[in-house]
Amino acid sequence: MINIAILGYGIVGSGVACVIEKNKKEISKKAGDEIAIKYILDIREFPGDPYENKIVNNINQILDDPDVQIICETMGGIRPAYEFTKRALLEGKSVCSSNKELVASHAPELLRIARENNCNYLFEASVGGGIPIIRPLNYSLTAEKIDRIVGILNGTTNFILTKMEKEGADFATVLKEAQELGYAEKNPEADVEGHDTCRKIAILSSLMTGQNVKYESIYTEGITKITANDFVYAYALDMTIKLLAISEYDIENNLNVCVAPFLIARDHPLYFVSDVYNGIFVHGNMLGDSMYYGRGAGKLPTASAVVSDVIDAARHIGKTITCFWDDNAIKLNPMDEYRGSYFVRAKDTPENIAKVQELFPDFVVVKQAVTGDYAFTCGPVAEKDFNEKIALLPSGINSRIRICI
Ligand code: HSE
Repeated sequence: MINIAILGYGIVGSGVACVIEKNKKEISKKAGDEIAIKYILDIREFPGDPYENKIVNNINQILDDPDVQIICETMGGIRPAYEFTKRALLEGKSVCSSNKELVASHAPELLRIARENNCNYLFEASVGGGIPIIRPLNYSLTAEKIDRIVGILNGTTNFILTKMEKEGADFATVLKEAQELGYAEKNPEADVEGHDTCRKIAILSSLMTGQNVKYESIYTEGITKITANDFVYAYALDMTIKLLAISEYDIENNLNVCVAPFLIARDHPLYFVSDVYNGIFVHGNMLGDSMYYGRGAGKLPTASAVVSDVIDAARHIGKTITCFWDDNAIKLNPMDEYRGSYFVRAKDTPENIAKVQELFPDFVVVKQAVTGDYAFTCGPVAEKDFNEKIALLPSGINSRIRICI
């Protein structure tokens, strides 16, 4: 029998217990031994819960018990998850985590400690919820040089943008609805400002490069400035607007990573990733394109990914599974150097129109859909040059959105 402990009996933690209970036979067969929950750590009490007698509130009870071989860290946040994870790995207990904040900020150190103690730090659930994406990058695509990852990595913002598109509603109205439905948090900042997506693309970029992509260095822009009128133009262009995380090598082998809303054309497979779903598009130099799609959040999909790591850890007791993510921080290309195409809603004045024609030789006018706009596309152009030129428009702009190419 392999005893496990769950740290944090919230949505994902209780999901882990549920998945283990429901698929007990399958899981034990695949793990090669019976998987049994011995403890659940939480400061709260759960009277009447089927796991009531497993709840403990002192981490030492778990860490000091040599019978516990695998720990599921479903607490979220850095403290105390970081300390608990480190101590568990130092004891030779594998840790399976859904905690993207902790993975994005401390994975190289935790992976090293796991190696030194012949156990594993696994984190399939930290990106894309139930979608297998960490394992494909780490195991399946190892013959590839992966040169591009484009992802819709946040279910909340994808739900909001999909609803704005379908209903012609504004951001604030849809956010309120999403909060009422429980899709968006009361404090939605981490999702709508792109911070959650930023952590997730930092993790994927680190696995893509084998080096450490620091989330703090990633240019991040959220969706709060996207309006219903932007979708009117997206429709006219046969495109939609998605919060994308992009990580790619340019022709000089510099790594560009950013999170921002992008216009994306109907012929791109990510165009059809709607509602709370996530999609991750990976390009390898031999394979070409591949795509991973599914439920990127939610109790059971995320818990299923945590339990898949438990099975992997159970199959590798006493051995460390190789994961290429070393401590060297990779230098990212500054956003100024990013070369992209843009859609611009400039203010509709004769001075602006004359200046656009002078500054953007490759501009293409987009039929006016909103009074007061002079809309056009331009590029590819370096972001720095684009910003400098836009600043020279005498009457200014209403908005601009990057175009995914
Ligand atoms: N808030 C996240 C999302 C949860 O909406 O995708 C999963 O990481």
